[in-house]
Amino acid sequence: MTSRVALVTGGTGGIGTAIVKRLAQMGHKVATNYRNEEKARAWQARMREDGIEVFLTRGDVTSPEEAAAMVHAVEAALGPIEILINNAGITRDTPFHRMRPDQWMEVINTNLNSCFNVTRPVIEGMRERKWGRIIQISSINGLKGQYGQANYAASKAGMHGFTISLARENARYGITVNTISPGYIATDMVMAVPEEVRAKIIADIPTGRLGTPEEIAHGVAFLVDEQAGWITGSNLDINGGHHMGW
Ligand code: CAA
Repeated sequence: MTSRVALVTGGTGGIGTAIVKRLAQMGHKVATNYRNEEKARAWQARMREDGIEVFLTRGDVTSPEEAAAMVHAVEAALGPIEILINNAGITRDTPFHRMRPDQWMEVINTNLNSCFNVTRPVIEGMRERKWGRIIQISSINGLKGQYGQANYAASKAGMHGFTISLARENARYGITVNTISPGYIATDMVMAVPEEVRAKIIADIPTGRLGTPEEIAHGVAFLVDEQAGWITGSNLDINGGHHMGW
C-alpha cells in the first residue's frame, strides 16, 4: 500500500481520533492540529500507548494565517499533504430567535471558513503532484436541518457546496473531493445534548442506536483508498438510516 501524508483537522476530538487512528493503521503518516497544548500532549501520549504516532502542530483553523503555518509545519515534518480531512467542528445550539452574532460567527468560522483556510494552502501542491484526497466531515443536520442549529446546519450544508465545486475544479488533477455526513455519533458533542432530547433522537434512528466514531472512520478509509479515484463530488451518509435521500 502507498503510504501518504494525511492532515486531519480537529484530530483530537471524538470522530477525529477514530479517523487519525484508522489512517495511521492503514500505514499513512498522520498529523493534526491543536489549540490547547496540554490537552493535545495528553492525547498524543494515549495514542502512543496504542502504538500510533501522530505529528502535532499548533493552529487555529479559524485563522487563515495559523492554518497556513500549520500546513507548512506538517509539510516540513512529514512531506507534502496528500490527504486532507476537514473535520474540525463545533456546535453552539440555540433557537435562531435567541441566537447571538458570536454564536453564528464561531460556528461558521470553525466549521466552514476553516475549509477555505486549510484547503487553500494544500490544493496547489496536490494539483502539481496530480494526486489528492479531500474529505469534508459534514453532518446529517446539514441535509435535514435541526431545531437549534441554524448556524451549524448552514455551515454543514455549505461544506458540501464547497465539496462539489472543488470536485469539479480538480477532477482532472487526480484529486477527489467528497463529503461524509455523519448522523448522531456517540461523542462528547452528542452527549452534550439534553438527555430527554437525545432519547427522542435515538428513538428516531432506524438502527436504534447512536453510531460509533469508527463507523465514520471506515467511510474515510473507503474514500481515501487508491481505488476510489472515480468517486468525487459525492456525499456519503453514515447515519443508521436516520435520514435517507437520493
Ligand atoms: N423540534 C421542535 N421543537 C423543539 C425541538 C425539536 N427538535 N427541540 C426543542 N423544541 C421546542 C420545545 O418543544 C420547546 O417548545 P415550547 O417552548 O413551545 O415548550 C422549546 O423548543 C424549548 O425551547 P427552550 O427554550 O427550552 O430551548 P433550550 O434553549 O432549552 O434548548 C436547544 C434548545 C438548545 C436547541 C435544545 O433543544 C437542544 O440542545 N436540542 C438538540 C439540538 C441538536 O440535536 N443538536 C445536535 C448536537 S450534535 C451534532 O450537532 C452532531 C451532528 O452533526 C449530528
